[in-house]
Amino acid sequence: MLNHLLRKIEKKEYRIGIIGLGYVGLPLLWTFHNEGMQVIGFDIDKTKVESLKEGRSYIKHLGKNMMQELAKSNRCDATTDFSRLSEADAILMCVPTPLDRHREPDMSFIVKTTETVSKNLREGHLVILESTTWPGTTEELMIPILEKNSGLKAGKDFYIAYSPEREDPGNPKFNTAMIPKVVGGYGAEDLELAVKMYETAIVKCIPVSNCKTAEAVKLTENIFRSVNIALVNELKVVFHAMDIDVHEVLEAASSKPFGFMKFTPGPGLGGHCIPIDPFYLTWKAREFERHTRFIELAGEVNTNMPSYVVNQTMIALNKHHKSLNGSNILVIGLAYKPDVDDMRESPTFKIFDLLKEMGANISFFDPYIPKVIPTREHADWTGVESIVWNYENISKFDAVVISTNHSNIDYTELADWSECIVDTRNALNGIKPKNEIHFFKA
Ligand SMILES: NC(=O)c1ccc[n+]([C@@H]2O[C@H](COP(=O)([O-])OP(=O)(O)OC[C@H]3O[C@@H](n4cnc5c(N)ncnc54)[C@H](O)[C@@H]3O)[C@@H](O)[C@H]2O)c1
Repeated sequence: MLNHLLRKIEKKEYRIGIIGLGYVGLPLLWTFHNEGMQVIGFDIDKTKVESLKEGRSYIKHLGKNMMQELAKSNRCDATTDFSRLSEADAILMCVPTPLDRHREPDMSFIVKTTETVSKNLREGHLVILESTTWPGTTEELMIPILEKNSGLKAGKDFYIAYSPEREDPGNPKFNTAMIPKVVGGYGAEDLELAVKMYETAIVKCIPVSNCKTAEAVKLTENIFRSVNIALVNELKVVFHAMDIDVHEVLEAASSKPFGFMKFTPGPGLGGHCIPIDPFYLTWKAREFERHTRFIELAGEVNTNMPSYVVNQTMIALNKHHKSLNGSNILVIGLAYKPDVDDMRESPTFKIFDLLKEMGANISFFDPYIPKVIPTREHADWTGVESIVWNYENISKFDAVVISTNHSNIDYTELADWSECIVDTRNALNGIKPKNEIHFFKA
């Protein structure tokens, strides 16, 4: 069985099924397709499946060409019919891993998907989880479901591995194929198969001892980011009080050719990963009576940043003899980071909420988000539309808060048109303020 699948992989004659066609699954599907493999995308979201079949783009930075090419290809298919999982040799799971209302891991997507896979599992299948999750998920949660429902044994009748996704959406320097893949297998054969399979499409594999080590690698990478972002956010607040420009400090510090890595402060943390993933370890650590104080502290500093931004906006308006209450505020950038259309966990929503609580009237501009789509967490803002960029619209606000520094915004124009700008991202760097109460750093 092992040799049969290995031969198929070596000849690139295997078929890959990817479950979850979002920010991770779609570029992964494209990567394997590019290398000549047969790919089938699975999703419970009918609109994504239809978009893929019809060549319509639904993730801006991936572009239209990719979707059109996939739609035309006879090596790519997409479906909501999960019985077709049996057609695939390898099944990759890229489903969400959010936090629930109590900020604990919401494993429901992994559990449901694993149950679906288990009903369609056959001998020789290779199953790989790519979602970010707590160490132990593959072996403690998935394997029992897969074995129970299928009657097959992991590592013997079917193979299983974990390999975290390291996608950086919108980063033009890296695509999925160029980012080395960490892989942990249930046993030696599971690892060998998974590594050989990824090596058909991805530059390099880094095999590790087991699935839980690979799961821990991904969390470590994201905790590293969360803690370092919290550090520069804290430094920003402290240096600001001392009238020191944190951006100038970080730029100069990063001239050190060793022992320093530059992180950039901002209005808080956003996205589907950094604000969430560290707490998967916090949750699991409790089982071992261990505490994750760095993670908690970083979370505290980062979640307080929107309040800091609102406070700075209040100070800025004060200098203009205005109060937040009753002021019209334009917030620029709803996406959680520049040049993407992803507003998940964006700190801008928190800034909206806090400004509204203080009685301000809020509008936003985001070139990538024309309208706020419905979300459970930010239902109040559903349907609100981005304003149109022109002098009449922009100049009427009492203050503008730059929350995300998309690179296609004309900040010189913004500086000309606005009287008071609160900049959380150093977007106005190099532009001369009109007067001393024009630009504020936050
Ligand atoms: N977005 C990133 O930059 C990034 C980077 C690295 C890792 N990750 C991790 O990858 C995983 C996926 O993240 P994403 O950003 O691609 O999420 P996403 O929300 O963009 O996509 C997930 C997809 O899974 C589908 N789905 C949900 N339940 C399903 C089910 N039961 N069966 C089939 N499909 C189902 C959804 O409809 C959606 O299309 C998460 O664990 C995330 O933490 C994300």
